[in-house]
Amino acid sequence: METKPIISIVGTGYVGLTSAAVLANAGFKVFAVDIDPKKIDIIKSGKSHFFEGGLDEFVSKAVETGNLLPTISFKESIPESNIVFSCVGTPDNPDGSPNLEYIYSAAESIAKNAKDGIVVVQKSTVPVGTGRKLMAHIAKVSPDLKFSYVSNPEFLREGSALFDTLNMDRVVVGSDDKEALEKVVSVFTAVNDFAQDIDYSEFSDYRLNNVSKITPFSKTPFSERVFKMGLESAELVKVSANAFLALKISFANSIAKLAEKADADIVEVMNGVGSDFRIGRAFLYAGLGWGGGCFPKDVSGLISVAEEYGVPLPIMDAAVEENQSMVDHVVEKIRKSNGGISKMKVAVLGLSFKPGTSDVRKSQAIKLANKLHEKGAIVKAFDPQAMEEAKEDLNRNVELSGSISECVNCSDAIVVATDWNEFKEHNWKSEKKNVNGNIFVDARNCLKASEIQDAGFEYMGIGR
Ligand code: UDX
Repeated sequence: METKPIISIVGTGYVGLTSAAVLANAGFKVFAVDIDPKKIDIIKSGKSHFFEGGLDEFVSKAVETGNLLPTISFKESIPESNIVFSCVGTPDNPDGSPNLEYIYSAAESIAKNAKDGIVVVQKSTVPVGTGRKLMAHIAKVSPDLKFSYVSNPEFLREGSALFDTLNMDRVVVGSDDKEALEKVVSVFTAVNDFAQDIDYSEFSDYRLNNVSKITPFSKTPFSERVFKMGLESAELVKVSANAFLALKISFANSIAKLAEKADADIVEVMNGVGSDFRIGRAFLYAGLGWGGGCFPKDVSGLISVAEEYGVPLPIMDAAVEENQSMVDHVVEKIRKSNGGISKMKVAVLGLSFKPGTSDVRKSQAIKLANKLHEKGAIVKAFDPQAMEEAKEDLNRNVELSGSISECVNCSDAIVVATDWNEFKEHNWKSEKKNVNGNIFVDARNCLKASEIQDAGFEYMGIGR
C-alpha cells in the first residue's frame, strides 16, 4: 500500500486552517504552521481562531486523533513533510498591488528546512509570474535543494469554506513538473473520497448540516473537475475567476440603477437574464456591492499586474468605480426620502462583508455606516457575528448595539447592509412600534417587500 504523504500547511487563515482540518480528518498527518503563537494555542485547544461554520468540530476531531499538529516551528514540521501548502496572507499595498512579503518569507523558511523531493504548493493568490520568481528565490536560498513547485489556487468561499473544501467544484493545478502535479491531485482525490462517506447530519452547525441540501454536491466525476495546466495559467485562473464574478455583480448594480429610473425590477430583470445558460443567475444579485478579503484585492491586483505587463484593463477599472458608487447610491436614497440627512437617526444592520462570517475586510456595510456618519447622520449598527471585528474600521462615533431591536429603536431609517438570516427572519411587524420613521432600505434585496410594507414601512430595495 502506498504511504500517505506528510503535509505541512503554512498559514492558518480561512484557506490554511480549513484545508489542514479537512486533510487531517481525511487521514493525513498535517502540521498546521503559523508564526502567531496565539493562533496556534487556540488551534491546539481544538478550536478555530476565527468564526467559520462547522470548522471547530473538524479542528477538534483532528487535534484529538493526533493527525493535526499545530506548531509555530518550521524546524519541527517542514523537514518531516513531503508536501507543503503555502496559505499565508497577501495584504494590500497602498497602490492596490498585493504585498508578497509573507509569501517570500514563508518560501524562505520552507527552503531552509525542507528535505529533497519536497513539493511546494502555492495556494495563496499571487500575481501571475510570481511562481517563477519564487522558484528562483527558493533555489537561491537553498541551492542544493531538489524541489518542485505547483500553483494550486483556492476557490473556497467564506461562510461555506468546509463545504467547498469537501465538495471541490474544481481543482486547478499548474506546474512544469508533471509528477508533482499528480502528487497534489492524489491528495485531493483522497479528500474527495473521504467527503463521500461523511454523515453531514451529525454536524451541529446549521450551514454544514444543511449546506448539502442547499447547494447539492457535484455530480460531475472528480477526474473531470481536475484541471492540469502550466504554472502561469493556473496563477491567472484564480484572479480572473474572481474578477469576472466581481464584474457580474457590478454589471447587475449598473443595470439596477437604470431599472430604478425606468420603473423596472432588477430581480425580475436578472431572473430573465440569468436564465440564459450562457450567462447564469449566480452573482447577478444587485445590492450594496462586493467586499471581503478576495474580490477587492484580486481585482486591484489584476489591474496592477496587467499594468506591469503593459495591458490596460479599463473594464475592471469600471467595475471598481461602479462598486464604490453603490455606497453613495444608498446614502442618496436615504437622504432623498427624508429630505436631508443631518441629525437623522439611521440603524445599519450588518457589518460583515457577507453573511455567515465575522470577516469585515473591505466591507461595504462598514463603508456605508461611516459615510452616513460623515454626512451628519446619527448612526447605530448591529451585526450577529462581526461586532468585535468591526470596531477597528468603524468610525468610533457609530454606536454599536447589542441586538436588532436595540439598534432600530427610535431610528428614522433602517438599512439592511448584510443579508444575514437574522434580519430576514425578524418580526418587523411587531418591531415597527419601536421605530420612529418608516424608511426601510433593503440594500441587499434580501427581504420580502410586501412583508416590510405590511409592517408599516416604506420599502426600498436596490433597482426595484
Ligand atoms: C470569493 C469567491 O467567490 C471564492 O471563489 C474565492 O475563493 C474567494 O473569493 P468570498 O470572498 O468568500 O469568495 O465571497 P463571495 O460569496 O464571492 O461574495 C463576495 C462579495 O460579493 C460579498 O460582499 C457579497 O455580498 C457580494 N455579492 C455576491 C453580491 O453583491 N452579489 C452577488 O450576486 C454575489
